[in-house]
Amino acid sequence: MPSISEKGRHMPASPIRKLVPYAEAAKKKGTHVIHLNIGQPDIKTPKVALDAVRNHNIEVLAYSMTEGSETYREKIAAYYAKKDIHVAAQDIIVTTGGSEALSFAMGTIMDAEDEIIIPEPFYANYNGFATAAGVKVVPIVSKIEDNFALPPIASFEKLIGPKTKAILICNPGNPTGYLYSKEEIKQLAELVKKHDLFLIADEVYREFTYEGKQHYSILQLEGLENHAIVVDSVSKRYSMCGARIGCLVSKNRDVIQTALKFAQARLSPPTFAQIASEAALDTPQVYFDEVIEEYASRRNLLISELKKLDGVKVAIPQGAFYCVVELPVEDADDFAQWLLESFSFDGSTVMVAPAAGFYATPGLGKNQIRIAYVLEKEQLVKAVQILGKALTKYNSL
Ligand SMILES: Cc1ncc(COP(=O)(O)O)c(C=O)c1O
Repeated sequence: MPSISEKGRHMPASPIRKLVPYAEAAKKKGTHVIHLNIGQPDIKTPKVALDAVRNHNIEVLAYSMTEGSETYREKIAAYYAKKDIHVAAQDIIVTTGGSEALSFAMGTIMDAEDEIIIPEPFYANYNGFATAAGVKVVPIVSKIEDNFALPPIASFEKLIGPKTKAILICNPGNPTGYLYSKEEIKQLAELVKKHDLFLIADEVYREFTYEGKQHYSILQLEGLENHAIVVDSVSKRYSMCGARIGCLVSKNRDVIQTALKFAQARLSPPTFAQIASEAALDTPQVYFDEVIEEYASRRNLLISELKKLDGVKVAIPQGAFYCVVELPVEDADDFAQWLLESFSFDGSTVMVAPAAGFYATPGLGKNQIRIAYVLEKEQLVKAVQILGKALTKYNSL
C-alpha cells in the first residue's frame, strides 16, 4: 500500500475534539453532556449580518477577489481605525477564517525547519499549522502561578537562534485568557526588532476584555511596521464561526504580496460569508456591550464556583472566554475520558479539554484542563457542581 507522509504522521489530533467519540457514546446512553470543551459561543449572530445574506438576490455565486472584496477591506480598515489601528485596505487580505490567515502567515515567512517561538500553553492548532508548514515550534513556558503573563524577555532571548524567524502570541490568549499589557507588547517589539524577527499576533479575541482593561494591538506600535503581522477573524467577534472569514493584516508590503500568492492558489474567500461579514461591521456597539457584560458575568461566576472546589487552581482570565484550571488529578486526559465514560450526576456529565494538548513541552499541563465559558450561567454552575462531585469520586477510586 502506498504510504502517507511523515508530515501526516506527525500532524497532531485536536485535543479539543479527540474526546468526541466518548461524548457521543455518553449521549447514546442517555447522559446529558455539558460542553465546556469548545469555543463555540451560544451568543446570537448580529441580525444585520444574517439579514444581509437573507436579502441578497445574487444570481451567480461567483468567486470574489483573491484578497477579498474591495468594499469589505475598506470597511475593515475603518473598523481598525476606530480601534486606533491605522492600516489601509491594501494591508489586508481576507482569508477563510483566522485559521487560513495563520497558515498563510507561516507559509509566507518561514521555510521548512525554521523556528517559531510561542508562549505555551497556546491555541493547540498552532501545532497543526506549524506541522503543515514544516516549521518547528519552540515553546516558552508561561505559568499558571503568574496568571500566564509574558515570560521574562531574557528567557525568550535564550531561545533565539539562527533558525528563529518569528514569535507568535495570542492576545487575549486562548486557552489562558491572558491579556498582554502595552508594556509587554513593547518589550516584545524591542526584542523582534533587535533580532530582526517577525511578531505575529493572533488577535481574534480583541473585543473580549474585562474589568475595563484595554486591548493593545501590535499594529499600534510605531516602528514595528515591517515586523508585525496580525491574524484576525469574525468567528468569535460576531459569533460567526461558520462564516469562515478572517484576515491577515500587515504593513509589510513583501508579506502581503507573498501571502497574496498563497491566497491566489485557493482562489478566493467565500463570497456569501464576506457579504455577511461586511454587514456585521455595522453591528451597533450596544451588541458588544451586552455580549461583553454577559461574558464578564459568566467569567466571575465560573471563577467563584471553581474556587470553592478543593485542590483546584484557576488563572483569572482578563480576556477571551477561556480559562486554564489545575485539578487535583495526575492525568487530566484520563479524568476527562472517565467523566464521559463512567460518570454522571443527575443524568449529566461535563466534557472538558485536557490542557496537555495546548503545550508543546511533553509532560506540561498534565493536571490542567481548559474551560470555555460559552454557556449560560445556570449551565456553568451545574457543570462546576458536576466537576466537584466527579473529582471527589475519581480521587476515591
Ligand atoms: C486563538 C485562535 N486563533 C484562531 C482561531 C481560528 O478561528 P477561525 O478559523 O474560526 O477564525 C481560533 C478558533 O478557535 C482561536 O481560538
